[in-house]
Amino acid sequence: MAPVSLPDSSARKINVQPRYDFDLRTGKSETGLRACTYNVEVKADPEDGIDKVYVETPADGSEWRLVELRPVSEEFADPPPRHALPLLPVTAAAGSMIEEPVVPIDNPPKTLMQWAVLILNTPNPTLKVQRTREAVNLFRTGKLTSIGHKSPNAPCPPDVPPRGENFTRNTVDPGKVKNRKNRAVMLHALANIEQWAIDLAWDIIARFGPSHPNIPPAFFSDFTKMALDESKHFTLLTSRLSAISPSTPYGTMPVHASLWDSATVTSNSLRSRLAIIHLVHEARGLDVNPGTIDRFRKAGDIESVKVMEIIHADEVTHVTSGHRWFTWICEQEGNIDPILAFREEVRRGWRGDVKGPFNVEDREKAGLTKEFYEGLKGEMGFPLPDGRVPFDMKPSKGAVADITVQYESI
Ligand SMILES: [Fe+2]
Ligand SMILES: [Fe+2]
Repeated sequence: MAPVSLPDSSARKINVQPRYDFDLRTGKSETGLRACTYNVEVKADPEDGIDKVYVETPADGSEWRLVELRPVSEEFADPPPRHALPLLPVTAAAGSMIEEPVVPIDNPPKTLMQWAVLILNTPNPTLKVQRTREAVNLFRTGKLTSIGHKSPNAPCPPDVPPRGENFTRNTVDPGKVKNRKNRAVMLHALANIEQWAIDLAWDIIARFGPSHPNIPPAFFSDFTKMALDESKHFTLLTSRLSAISPSTPYGTMPVHASLWDSATVTSNSLRSRLAIIHLVHEARGLDVNPGTIDRFRKAGDIESVKVMEIIHADEVTHVTSGHRWFTWICEQEGNIDPILAFREEVRRGWRGDVKGPFNVEDREKAGLTKEFYEGLKGEMGFPLPDGRVPFDMKPSKGAVADITVQYESI
């Protein structure tokens, strides 16, 4: 056992219930990948009596390092304790009055598939967040007994999740945001991406669950966790937005739907969806987040720095999920090489270079080694080979569409 130092004195709790999909004793996983598991103990140091964390070291070799040690936030405990849910702030978006109950009175969803489609069809972002929390809580606590992906009556997800009108066009004078060093613009743009990210997590569940009846339950655990994370990110960002710029709450600035272009392009193939959304777009988020964090830090906005650090740590796990299920599907489809398959998917489903500079270290934490993405270029043209043109929701005429925001990550 080797002692490791904790980042701060509050981190006295070890996360003994991580979102693992493997047996903690044997490392065996439903996906076929085998995880290495090591004993973790908290013991008082005999010299100074202070509690220290001891991690068992690998028996073989010396080529190992501790990649990450994360404190666990009680606020975002996993699964979320039901009583704690109302404590999380949900900032109402501009012009959004919630008239519907979180759980519909008529015909409440009974399966995960039904919840996924209900949430995708919920335009109000605040209600989308609340329904996501409710659904994930029911799923994790065993109150939702059926996933429902094997049912012949599984509902179909919408081609494009609906949005209210005030979320598709600009309603604010951009001059009003200039004096805030664009922090409000950045937070608004990031929140918009997170809202699409909530939908993307539910869409992969609802769209590809029924077409892959043999997919292990861990797939649904991973992507419901992702949906919950993205709703947490949306909430944290919109709360910060309201705190630093009360006159421009979420829904008052231009938004875009470019992420859904990629969802449309990849709507016929789980392998393509995992590659383009989770291993290109989300991995890009890992590259650009440190720069965003730096911008907030330079502006002295430490609260936003903390928010972005939480988001970034979660996003590493999302790319990990993308990699895990991409590997799984490659195995299912005849043991094809994941690296070659990924590069082929990007050539077909992406336009232009897969741009760096890359956050090599965090990509590697998620399983994405350089062989996956270096020197890679997409060759997709329009219209697509099957004649489809990806959905494109530009801000409507008269909207301010070109506010410079360089953050296209999830
Ligand atoms: Fe996110
Ligand atoms: Fe994400």
